[in-house]
Amino acid sequence: MRNQTPVSATRYESNNIESHLIEKRVFNPPEAFSSKADIPSFEQYQKLYRKSIGNPEEFWGEQASELLVWHKKWKTVLDWKEPFARWFVGGTLNVSENCLDRHLSGSRRNQAALIWEGEPGDKRTLTYQQLHREVCKFANVLKRNQVKKGDRVIIYMPMCPEAAIAMLACARLGIIHSVVFGGFSAAAIKDRVLDSQAKMVITADGGYRRGAIVPLKRNVDEALKDDEHVKKVVVFRRVGNQVTIREGRDVWWHREMEYVDANCEPVPVDSEDPLYILYTSGSTGKPKGVLHTSAGYLLQAALTTKYVFDIKEGDIYWCTADVGWVTGHSYVVYGPLCIGATAFMYEGAPNWPEPDRFWKLIEEYGITIFYTAPTAIRAFVRWGDEHPQRHDLSSLRLLGTVGEPINPEAWMWYHKVIGGGRCPIVDTWWQTETGSIMITPLPGATPTKPGSATLPFFGIDAAVVDDQGKEVPPNVGGKLVIRKPWPSMLRTIWGDEKRYKKQYWSEFKGMYFTGDGARRDKDGYFWIVGRIDDVLNVAGHRLGTSEIESALVSHLDVAEAAVVGRPDEMKGQAVVAFVTLKQPKKPTPELRETLREHVAEVISAIAKPDDIRFTDALPKTRSGKIMRRLLKEVASSGQVTGDTTTLEDYSVLAKLSGDGKESAS
Ligand code: WTA
Repeated sequence: MRNQTPVSATRYESNNIESHLIEKRVFNPPEAFSSKADIPSFEQYQKLYRKSIGNPEEFWGEQASELLVWHKKWKTVLDWKEPFARWFVGGTLNVSENCLDRHLSGSRRNQAALIWEGEPGDKRTLTYQQLHREVCKFANVLKRNQVKKGDRVIIYMPMCPEAAIAMLACARLGIIHSVVFGGFSAAAIKDRVLDSQAKMVITADGGYRRGAIVPLKRNVDEALKDDEHVKKVVVFRRVGNQVTIREGRDVWWHREMEYVDANCEPVPVDSEDPLYILYTSGSTGKPKGVLHTSAGYLLQAALTTKYVFDIKEGDIYWCTADVGWVTGHSYVVYGPLCIGATAFMYEGAPNWPEPDRFWKLIEEYGITIFYTAPTAIRAFVRWGDEHPQRHDLSSLRLLGTVGEPINPEAWMWYHKVIGGGRCPIVDTWWQTETGSIMITPLPGATPTKPGSATLPFFGIDAAVVDDQGKEVPPNVGGKLVIRKPWPSMLRTIWGDEKRYKKQYWSEFKGMYFTGDGARRDKDGYFWIVGRIDDVLNVAGHRLGTSEIESALVSHLDVAEAAVVGRPDEMKGQAVVAFVTLKQPKKPTPELRETLREHVAEVISAIAKPDDIRFTDALPKTRSGKIMRRLLKEVASSGQVTGDTTTLEDYSVLAKLSGDGKESAS
């Protein structure tokens, strides 16, 4: 393939999966990059990919011996009884030992593991030796406070080294952590505490965001108001704000650390022992606790970090994701540390105090690899080129994106303005459930096309199929599936095996259904269209429409609510809510604002509807199902052109699409 090779036009045949993108540009990996890369040519990628797909178990087995430190070697690479996988059966290891202890015997001991900057500008560096020491001490704090292997611990922290320390200390003892994003509300913490039956919460007094203090401890107090499960709350002092300490339950991180020494042997755990639960939005009102286990997860997180980010001695790698999301788990903590990289962490907002904060950090720390989300890139575009242009970004050698489809214009801007035209871009497709990157370019090998996540990673059998599960021809839209188990796949939904089967394995026999629509072009490149279920992707965050609906309906004045997405230039998708009110309540602009705030309180500010439309009734089928497809059309274009034959009451539709907005506009 050559630069500027045209791609044949796209046919759009799928029922509801559309792709309007025809992209002709192709960018080959720069020679200077390829010559030093782990996978230096496309031929090499193809050769290794074929081999890995021909015999995935052999491939993953070899990688597991090479990349991980084991206490006891496994007997069987994969035990697959659809839909339940067990990888590296019979093996034992410890995840924190793989991320820390193994690096202490040579010169890496004194290499930076984490380099951190807080939003106010405070700085810290932890070498592998120092990080190991902190993790051992904090693991002893966990022991002192009576948490043990198999127990669940909620981590609700700002982006600071202690968040990683808490995760790794749990891993050291086989304790299952569940990190809750610091932007979530008290109600979200409460749900997760209940669902996971957590015994402990690790939090901070607060964190900094856009110059303000996020009152983390206050949110935890609110969440635990009537809780009887959580026995201990460990509080890290980050900002020094006033907090309430409940005697007997709450302890200070720094005080506890005074009581313990730094000797803590890693506990060997079974390959399949749980490492963490991470809650993510699904198509029902209740978030799903995605369960990841130890060996397979760590292996694929580490191997993808090595090949996709091509990390070498001397690199400083920055993934901007918060540890509250899966990207923060796999590509801030577990992947980079397992391969002995130096990872940079930043606490705050990209536009604080000025819109050039990220570029300032890249210049100051000499960041070489930068991984962020398309929604952030679109915001940078809007803020103007003068901000990156004020800084020397010549240390950068590789760029990455994750979280949603990237539009080609944003890709080109990233390539030119941030990458100076010389850095390959890895557009990585994956999910909380997949644990690690699944479809991605390898930067020294794969020619890239702006907007395409390109080709599957080693051992990953991805395909686009029709409603019968048959692979579709090139440039025809369909459903994105994975046809073979992979090591970092979720093992189940915590406490809900039925939902696990139904959600991922019931659509097609023998295939994992991703919930995404996609097409492949004639070169086999994947073009991800986005979610085709009732999940929205707002600014790279997954939000279940029914979660937001439940939040709305929990308000006293709301009778019924339906939430849909509308395309949004900045955020990818915007949240539009159609709301009917309880009689005799009348819609007012104030009520609209109250409802938006209510959603922020119940879920998070990221879930706030951009638009609330009051209506007398919602369009429903005769069996009473809300016809979201029609609402989507109304939200996007103000009109309905699609099939309405199953609609129960036509007058509802006429009212809705009249001027696009209803009564209280
Ligand atoms: C979307 C984030 C297009 C997709 C790691 C997926 C993407 C969902 C890409 C998972 C990409 C993620 N191109 N779409 N490179 N990466 N997605 O669980 O819809 O927060 O199903 O995991 O984000 O979001 P999640």
